[in-house]
Formats: sequence, C-alpha cells, structure tokens
Amino acid sequence: MNVLIIGGGGREHALAWKIAQSPRVSRVFVAPGNAGTALDAENVAIAEDDFPALIAFARQNEVTLTVVGPEAPLAAGIVDAFEHEGLRIFGPNRKAAELEASKVFCKDLLRAADVPSAEYQTFSDPRRALQFVAEREGTPLVVKADGLAAGKGVIVCAGRDEAVDAVRLIAQQRAFGEAGDRLVIEERLDGQEASVLAITDGRTIVTLQPAQDHKPAGDGDTGPNTGGMGAYCPAPVVDDERLHWIEEHVLVPTVHAMRRAGRPFRGVLYAGLMMTNQGPKVLEYNVRFGDPECQPLLMRLKTDLVDVLEATVDGRLGEIEPLEWDPRPAVCVVMASEGYPGEYTKGHPIRGLEEAAKLPDVKVFHAGTRSQDGRVVTAGGRVLDVTALGESIARAKLQAYTAVKCIRWPGAWCRKDIADKAIGWVG
Ligand code: AMP
Ligand code: GLY
Repeated sequence: MNVLIIGGGGREHALAWKIAQSPRVSRVFVAPGNAGTALDAENVAIAEDDFPALIAFARQNEVTLTVVGPEAPLAAGIVDAFEHEGLRIFGPNRKAAELEASKVFCKDLLRAADVPSAEYQTFSDPRRALQFVAEREGTPLVVKADGLAAGKGVIVCAGRDEAVDAVRLIAQQRAFGEAGDRLVIEERLDGQEASVLAITDGRTIVTLQPAQDHKPAGDGDTGPNTGGMGAYCPAPVVDDERLHWIEEHVLVPTVHAMRRAGRPFRGVLYAGLMMTNQGPKVLEYNVRFGDPECQPLLMRLKTDLVDVLEATVDGRLGEIEPLEWDPRPAVCVVMASEGYPGEYTKGHPIRGLEEAAKLPDVKVFHAGTRSQDGRVVTAGGRVLDVTALGESIARAKLQAYTAVKCIRWPGAWCRKDIADKAIGWVG
C-alpha cells in the first residue's frame, strides 16, 4: 500500500521513517516534507492546507492511508474533506479537532466530564476579563487565547500586572487575531508536566508510553517558551499506577464525553498534564502526535504503526494486539537556529549529518531543513531532532549529545539538560 503523510517537521519525519519500515507499505509520500523525509520517503511539493491538491495526489498515486501530522489542517477539516471523497485518513474530523482548536470548548467539555483540570472562567468582553484579573491580586493566573496561536497563545503570569498585560495583548491588541475573540483565564498549577498520548477509534483507547517535553528555551526551564526543545520517553514521573489513573480519570471520560457531544474522536488524543499535589490535572488537549514527543516514542515502538493507524481509521482498534515497546528509553535533543524562538536566519549549510548517522542507536530526524544544491541547509527555528536509545535514560542522553557534537552550522544551539529531570528522578 501507499501512504501519504501531511506536514514537514520532525514529527512527520519520524512518522515517515517508522511507516516506511512496515512490510506492508510500498511507497511513503510526505507533503511537503523536508530534507530528511526526502531520504526516508518521497517528498511531494503540496502545502498542507491545499486540500484539493492533496486529494488529487492521493487518488492519482493509489494512496490508501493518509496520516495528518499538524493540528492546523485537522482544525480546518482535512479529514472531513478526504472522507467526503471516500479516502481513508487518520486523524479527528473538524468537530472533534475543536478539542485542541478551541480552549473554551476543551475546558467546558472537561468540566462537564468531571476530568481534573485548572479552575477557569471564559470571557469574550476584554473589560470583564480585566475586571476579573483586577479582583484577583495575588492569585497566580494563566491567560489563554481560545483559538490556535502556534503555541504562543498561552501566557503564564507571575502577577496581576502581567495578567493585565496578557489580556490586553490577546483581546485588545489582537496579537493572535481572531484566536483571541474569546479568552480562558485559569488558575496557575504547579508541578512537573508530562505528555500522555493515546490512540483511539472513539471506543477503544490504546495508551502510549508517557513522555516529557521541554518547552522553555533555556536550561533549567528558563527563558521564553518554544515549540519544544527536547523530549524523552518513558517519563518516570508517570509510573504505571499513575498512567492507569490517567486512563481511568482523564482519557476514558474524555472519549466518552466527545461521543456524547456528537463528536466521536478518532486519532491521537494527547493530554498535556501537570502533576500537582492533588494529582494529575489536564493543562490542554492536542489532537495529534506531539512534536518532539513523537520522535522518542516512535524510536521505542516495535509494533507496526500502520496496523494501529489502519485499525483506528476502520474502527477496529479493539482487535489489535497490545503494543510492543523497546524497553530502552529514548531521548531527543532539538538543535535550533540562533535567535529561535525569536527571529533567526535560514540557509546555513549543516555539516556532520553523515558522521552522526553512523553512531549506533541514533536517528537524526529533520525538522526545519531543506535541500539546496545537493546540500542540507537550515530552513526553520527548530532544525534537527537528534534522537537516541540507551540502556538507561542517562545513556540515551549521552548518546544523543554525542551525536549532537558531530553536527554544526553557524549559530546552532540546543538545551544541555534534556532528560535531567528523569535522570535525577527519585519517585
Ligand atoms: P497549553 O498550550 O495550554 O499546553 O499551554 C502551554 C504551556 O503553558 C503548558 O505546557 C504549560 O507549561 C503552561 N500552562 C498552561 N496552562 C497552565 C496552568 N493552568 N498552570 C500552569 N502552567 C500552565
Ligand atoms: N510538544 C508540544 C506539542 O506538540 O504541542
């Protein structure tokens, strides 16, 4: 069979690499892909939002399964468009994708389903939001734009003044456009974060191994937020008992609530969780694989991913065997462009990729790269996702950073402490 993957980042490279290993797959296409996906699959020069061109391509090339990486096409209804044409596609439809695309929808659903999450209120009038904030001196708050804002619409505030600024930025200066038509203001939670991803066909839930992302740019979780500077899997902060608890109190009631709401969920349900003193609480839902969590997850997954994705699309996930995992942990270190998450330049040739690829148990997934005159050059803020397996999490970290040291371009940088929280973990 032929498979089409939509997207062009590190997550999509990991998906292409894993799917290409399936003995049932003949050709893997990635639209639009990057310099790395061109090595493990075939790139197709179609943008992720050009649904008619993607549908025509799938038809012409006998694609029998399409897999969507990023949230934007899901929120814009790519699954509805493909299904309308009778094409099989993995991911939630537009109504189900609202779980990520609208924070107001998500919070209201969590409250109705009694899923633990931060206390909140929603606002569409900025004056009311400002009044609410003014009355809450000393309460740590988080201000969120309702809609998709490329991960930037969430502002964790140190005090009342910052919360006032956040409301003004989102609702009055319209920094994220109509994503800021409505606001969620919620209590700030404290604790360690973890990502628990599950694959569901709307009835059966197959939970993946827990992972942890590193959102802030600087070591020790300092500096501005990014798309994620590294990840590891498994995350010891979510032990088996806690994972079970999360399935029972978070994932199951959410999947049921979505079905009751007439929005049956099919695809990846990704719970961003905070481990608080009162137990795990949901920070947000995403409706797709996490980037970079997907990279260490798929390095460890031994089961043929295509079987799982197809069973989900066909509504027979209950029939598949339990997933098999490599017992070894995996660590992914993101190498970024100078200036990221702010302004950065592109087009720098990347050296040392072949040397890094020769190291055992290492895979360098590409995120923001492209080919130019036969060379791989930088083409984004997050450039490479250097991922390694190891006998222990410390060894996986060492191996990933050994590979990082092989690779260079002007201004390249990475966090130096990816997975340290897991290495120092004492339960
Ligand atoms: P979100 O897009 O909702 O996951 O938010 C992005 C990041 O903001 C999360 O990964 C957390 O680090 C942080 N965050 C979101 N909501 C809260 C909250 N209620 N308390 C503390 N931090 C939060
Ligand atoms: N790793 C965070 C995200 O994919 O949204």
